[in-house]
Amino acid sequence: MSAYFSLCLKAELAQARSMILLGVNVDHCATVRQARYRNAGSSAGGAIEPDPVAFAIACERAGADGITVHLREDRRHIQEQDVRRMKEALATRLNLEMACTPGMLEFALDLRPNSVCLVPENREEVTTEGGLDVIGNRERVAAIINALSPAGIETSLFIDPDERQIDLAAELRAPWIELHTGACSEAYAISKAKRTAEFERLRRAAAYAHQLGLVVNAGHGINYVNVADFRTLPHVHEFNIGHSIVSRALFTGVDEAVREMKQRMNAS
Ligand code: PXP
Repeated sequence: MSAYFSLCLKAELAQARSMILLGVNVDHCATVRQARYRNAGSSAGGAIEPDPVAFAIACERAGADGITVHLREDRRHIQEQDVRRMKEALATRLNLEMACTPGMLEFALDLRPNSVCLVPENREEVTTEGGLDVIGNRERVAAIINALSPAGIETSLFIDPDERQIDLAAELRAPWIELHTGACSEAYAISKAKRTAEFERLRRAAAYAHQLGLVVNAGHGINYVNVADFRTLPHVHEFNIGHSIVSRALFTGVDEAVREMKQRMNAS
């Protein structure tokens, strides 16, 4: 069975059960470590903590269906060594978020994560701010999909809920997209009208992408409260959630933070 077919089958099964999978983004565990140990030697006498690999394993044990890391060009949180250790240690799936650069493509082909999510990257931003402009980066994106696919690495494109971007994702044969839920999650602090309009954009985009045969993931700004709305989006295969789970884990521990999110994502 081809990797693409098995992925589609898994998506169909998850949908049949109405189960949305959870990918936990563990970047912020590394953010805490870098706040203290950015310039430390390789072991700092064994004092370096917290370890994002141990955090990721704890997420898996609590029921996470996959782990996501973003290896940024400026290496502000996750480091290459973290990603390599995760590849060895994880029992579920490793999803590598990366910019569309030749250096990152080379790294991904060497590492062989289960999937790669292409994201825009801007040095000044606090976090990934907008979706990838697939139209403006058509050649680069196509080259990366075409290089990763024969290596058995599925490519996901992190895009805004825009039909033109979705059309091109399908044309370039990206098997997955991840819809950027950031504008909708930010709208909760603006107005109900804005939130409703942003949600409608996401709903239409998810339905449209599904119709074109794309597996639809979603992420950015999803938390324990707004997940009650996001989980009603049609055809969503997986949520990628980072900040809210890492924040909750500070109070409850990783186990409860992950279990609680999974429960809320799939509450009947
Ligand atoms: N998906 C993508 C592509 C991201 O870049 C991020 C943030 O790094 C997330 C999901 C997770 O967003 P949050 O940390 O707001 O849950």
